[in-house]
Formats: sequence, structure tokens, C-alpha cells
Amino acid sequence: MLKQEEIIVGRRNFERAAMLYPKWTEREFPASQAKPLEAAIIGTGNQGRVLLENANPGHITFKACCDLRPDHRALGTGVIKSRYNPDVRVYSDVDKMLSDGGFEAVLIATPLHTHAPLTLKCLSAGKHVLCEKTMAYTVGECDEMIQAAEKNGLVLAIGHQRHANPLYLQAQGWIDEGLLGDIYHIRSLWHRNNEWRNIPEWENDYLKEVWGSTLLSWARKKMPDAKPEDFKKMSTVEKINLHFEYLHEQDPEFDCTRYGYETPDQMANWRLYHKFSHGLMSELGSHQIDACNWLWKSAPESVVGAGGIFHYKNDGRDVFDHVFTTFRYPGDRTLVFSSITTNDFDNYYDQVMGTLGTIYLTGESDGLLFKEGEPRTAEVAIATDKKSKKPVLVTGESNLKLGSAAPLMDGTERFKAYGIEINMFAEACRTGNPALVGCSGQDGRKAAIAVFAANETIRTNTVQPCNLPEVIAAAH
Ligand SMILES: NC(=O)c1ccc[n+]([C@@H]2O[C@H](COP(=O)([O-])OP(=O)(O)OC[C@H]3O[C@@H](n4cnc5c(N)ncnc54)[C@H](O)[C@@H]3O)[C@@H](O)[C@H]2O)c1
Repeated sequence: MLKQEEIIVGRRNFERAAMLYPKWTEREFPASQAKPLEAAIIGTGNQGRVLLENANPGHITFKACCDLRPDHRALGTGVIKSRYNPDVRVYSDVDKMLSDGGFEAVLIATPLHTHAPLTLKCLSAGKHVLCEKTMAYTVGECDEMIQAAEKNGLVLAIGHQRHANPLYLQAQGWIDEGLLGDIYHIRSLWHRNNEWRNIPEWENDYLKEVWGSTLLSWARKKMPDAKPEDFKKMSTVEKINLHFEYLHEQDPEFDCTRYGYETPDQMANWRLYHKFSHGLMSELGSHQIDACNWLWKSAPESVVGAGGIFHYKNDGRDVFDHVFTTFRYPGDRTLVFSSITTNDFDNYYDQVMGTLGTIYLTGESDGLLFKEGEPRTAEVAIATDKKSKKPVLVTGESNLKLGSAAPLMDGTERFKAYGIEINMFAEACRTGNPALVGCSGQDGRKAAIAVFAANETIRTNTVQPCNLPEVIAAAH
């Protein structure tokens, strides 16, 4: 673990290096700026609203919005009305939205098992698609998505937003130029300490405005004898059941069993059930595997791992709550990734470890840079090596002058990345050049295969190949 002083110096090193030797500069995206992309969104739950809140209204606008859940639909509509378009059309049925049309592209932010069916519907209706990660539930589905986009001449992007994160773009540029030397190891993790369940919002001002009551005021009326501590004592699943009753009352059409979920918890917490998700590896690990693939310009050949349901044994989930994996890449390179739900000591990071230096990217919003062979409190900068004419990491007062670029980090890079990712997608659609997206279908597919193989190694306690998609496909 780094000491506070080391963190401060490492951050200053990254910032200084970015000023002296910028590898990322904000792009203009002229085509989508001249005519913002006209889009729709399917799924305005947590992530759908993050996309809506961070997209740039100068580059994209939303003509239609669709969600099965009345609360998420109302919340998503509210964001669109205030940020983009007061006349947005609102749907609970994707087919109806697509047949009404009036937009060129669709953002999809729904549970994993729906990614491929919804993407294929949108592509066959002639719409470009930005689909959230992980790309799809099976390799076969990834292939169908890629083929459908190609056949229809449409753009397909996958929501691995590190490709659009200024810190990762900066790091990628430096790594490409050999600043870290040879990199044999990337260490990534995403650790949390909670049951990983979405808990209903008891008090929500916006829904109160729309529906005239909060969930709590409604529940109080329904259970007049209940005391405040009775609400507090409820299990998350009990709270979710109550929440879904409330939703059904707001919209009698709404019934989670109509959409393939057996219980409200399955719909609200689809990521805990294998029928809808591949658990920690797909929901968290896919991002970090994708980043590693991108930084190393390759994909893992095999994976070995361990894990299981270690802590939440009796709460109904059937996906692992601990995963530990080691991915072998071409060129004797190794990614070690773990994700756990019982301790968040280090939270989440990607640590790129080269023979000449280390880049440490934490929480998608902080970048630290260290030179190998120096104390971690050493001030580092980038200079041009006289002999090779290549950029190198250096220490020493004379090299520490700053360039004129604006400071890079303000702690919001994670959110900026969603906006830039959407700018990239809009520009690709506007110019008809699919290569302008951050994460392509092929990139998304590579990360997805690694996810499936990782779960398989844990399930079967065997080394799994990641570069033989037919082997993995057969397992699902
Ligand atoms: N890129 C990221 O950093 C990031 C972060 C979180 C989640 N995600 C991804 O975003 C997606 C959504 O995750 P979430 O956390 O927002 O889940 P969520 O449960 O909060 O929201 C999903 C929404 O999709 C709606 N939905 C499901 N099927 C639908 C259908 N057929 N038609 C219309 N609406 C439908 C649900 O009603 C729900 O409101 C997932 O794929 C997840 O992996 C990405």
C-alpha cells in the first residue's frame, strides 16, 4: 500500500508527464457538433442515466426513451427533458419505439442477457448501436451482433469506456512509445464490501413530484402500524418486494414476471443471477480485461482461476461472490485480476508494471507514475533521450519544467469518459466511419470471451483457453 506522500508525488508525476508529453488532447468531433446525432435510449436504470447525464447535448440528442420499469422510465425521461428534449417520446415497448422511429441510433443500457436480442432488433431496424458491456451473453451472440452491423453498414460500439478516458488514453500513448519499457505484468482488481444489491430509494424527490408520493410515504400508508425501525430492519429483498408493489400500483401493466424474471429481486438485481449475467467477471472484470487487451494490443490465450460463493451462501444468488484469475497473454505477459465482495481495502485499480516504470490508475479518475529503481517519492518527468531520441522517464531538477497544456486530472475522468465515449460513437455514426468508436464489436467480443473462460476455469477448476471461441461457446 502506498503512503500518502507517495500518492501525492505519483499523481504529480503523472500530471507533469501529461503536461510535458501529452498523448491525449480533447478532440473536436466536428461532424456530430454540426448536427447532433438523433438517438433513443433503451434502459434508463443506473447506467442509462449515467450515460444521459454525461453525454454532450451539442453532439447527441434523445428523441425517444424506453424502459420496462415505471420508476426508471420516469427518472430517465426527467433527465432527457431537462438536458436534451422536452418533447421526448416515452415507451415501455422497444418494438413500438422502433416502429415509430424518428432517430438514427440507440444507446442500450439493459441487463446482459438482453444485449444481443435488443442490439439485433435495433440494427435490423437500421439504427446504429452503442451497447453497454459486457457485449453479450455468449460468443455466438457477439458474432451475430458484429455480422449484423457489418451487413447493414451500421456502427456498433461497446460501452467499455476506458477507451475514452483521458488517463487511459494518456497511459496508452506512453506505453506504445516504450516509456515503461517491457511490460510483463498488469495487476487489476475491483474489490467491494457489500451484498452488491440495488436497494430501493425510499425518498426520491423527482418521483414524488411525478407520482405525488415517495416509496416511504406510500409504505407508511400501507402499513400504518409499522414503526420506523420496522422499515430499517427489513431485508433488501423485502424492501425490493415492497418497491415493486408500489411500481405496480403506479403502472398496473408493470409485472416483472412478464419479462422473464421470477421475482422482483431477479429484475432489480439481475447481476446476481446466472440466467441474466456472468456475475463479477462480466459486470466488473470485463472492463479491466478489455483495458489490458487494449494496452497490450492482444487478447489472453488462457486463464486459470479460483473462486465461488464464499460469503453470500444463502441469499439466493447463483453467481460467484469472489473471483481470482490469472490471464496469460502472448509474449509472456500476465494479467492478474480479482474481484471480491467482502473487503474493499484497495477498491479498484489497474497497475501497469514495466521494466522502466509503473502506471497506477485508480478508480478511473486518478493516475500515478513512478520510475523503476527510484524511491516512490522521487519526482519524475519525461525527457527526450539524446541517443535514441525517444521519450524516457527521468529524475532531477533540471528536467522538471512544465509544458503549457492544461492540468489533466480533476477527479471526474470516470464521468468524462462516458461523455467522450458517446462523442466518439456519434462522430462514427455521423461520418459513417465505424473505426472512430472507442471500443469496437471485435474489442467487446475479445473481452467477453475472456469473461466466459474465466468463469469456466473457476467452475471446473481447469485451465481454460481464451483463444478458441468454439470451445467456450460450447460450454454455454
Ligand atoms: N460502463 C459502465 O461503467 C457500466 C456501469 C454500470 C452498468 N453498466 C452496464 O449497463 C447495463 C445496465 O446496468 P444498470 O446497472 O443500469 O442496470 P439497472 O437494472 O439499473 O437498469 C437496467 C434497466 O433496463 C431496463 N430493461 C431491461 N430489459 C428491458 C427491455 N427489454 N426494454 C426496455 N428496458 C429494459 C430495466 O427495466 C432497467 O430499468 C448493464 O449491461 C451493465 O453491465 C455499465
